[in-house]
Amino acid sequence: MKSKEELAAEQAAFWNGPGGQGWLASYHQRIERSVADLGRDVLSAAAARPGEHVIDVGCGMGGTTAELARAIGPTGHVLGVDISEPLIERARSHRVDNATFVVGDAVTYPFKAATYDLVFSRFGVMFFGDPVAAFKNLRHALKPTGRLVFLCWRTPQENPWGLVPLRAAAPFLPPIPRPGPEDPGQYSFGDRARVERILTEAGFGTPDIKPIDRPIWMGSTAAEVAENTGRFGPLARAFADAGPAAIEKAKAAIAEVLAPHQGSDGVMLPGACWLVSAGKG
Ligand SMILES: C[S@@+](CC[C@H](N)C(=O)[O-])C[C@H]1O[C@@H](n2cnc3c(N)ncnc32)[C@H](O)[C@@H]1O
Repeated sequence: MKSKEELAAEQAAFWNGPGGQGWLASYHQRIERSVADLGRDVLSAAAARPGEHVIDVGCGMGGTTAELARAIGPTGHVLGVDISEPLIERARSHRVDNATFVVGDAVTYPFKAATYDLVFSRFGVMFFGDPVAAFKNLRHALKPTGRLVFLCWRTPQENPWGLVPLRAAAPFLPPIPRPGPEDPGQYSFGDRARVERILTEAGFGTPDIKPIDRPIWMGSTAAEVAENTGRFGPLARAFADAGPAAIEKAKAAIAEVLAPHQGSDGVMLPGACWLVSAGKG
């Protein structure tokens, strides 16, 4: 079993390397539209108010940070924190007046204590090497009245947008490692009881955990989705270890399995998330 430090180092290497590059390459072409409605769901649940101080954890290229900055206005401030230098560099290029972007690990970043009204995240909390330590650190940054609001994916089985291409491609690729139940990863917060346990151990009040189900837009055509597959998520790792012939076969299988899901709005498959809120406790 890997130590928490090894898991954290692996995640840092991934998000500063192929994971970050894949995210940069795919964000405007696909990810931004795929998660737009879910982003609105979590932003609306967070209800950031003028003058508030906010942390956007795992902020990536800062899309939600900019939305939060608009909501809190010039008297508020958002701190966007992410472990990935290339993503933070891109986030900084947007020059949002009342936001600051820093490279840091949520587990160790020295947040100012009892300063923030809201800790927010869209899909940025599932990759911590030591999630209890990270949430303890984030909780310490909250004012006594502060709140935590984040969105994370449920299980792979509930997210056919991720599972269907993965299953189609798997026979042609080197074995795709299955993360252990306590390992970081895209679906590591799929088990509601685990999320509850992590937040409670970190000291938060009893979390409110609501399911959100939405179709996920994957691209305009099945062929286009297949062509661009492998830039992020579990398939990115599998493609990195596969040869060109295997990748071509995997892409053809993905195009075939997605074709029936292509409609006038593009390729859509169901997606499932938890919308999680908790008070400082
Ligand atoms: C799936 S992306 C989400 C990005 C962004 N929140 C969005 O919705 O566009 C996950 C992000 O979490 C960041 N991340 C992973 N581990 C982290 C850690 N320990 N501390 C801070 N950020 C981390 C990654 O670098 C990546 O940008």
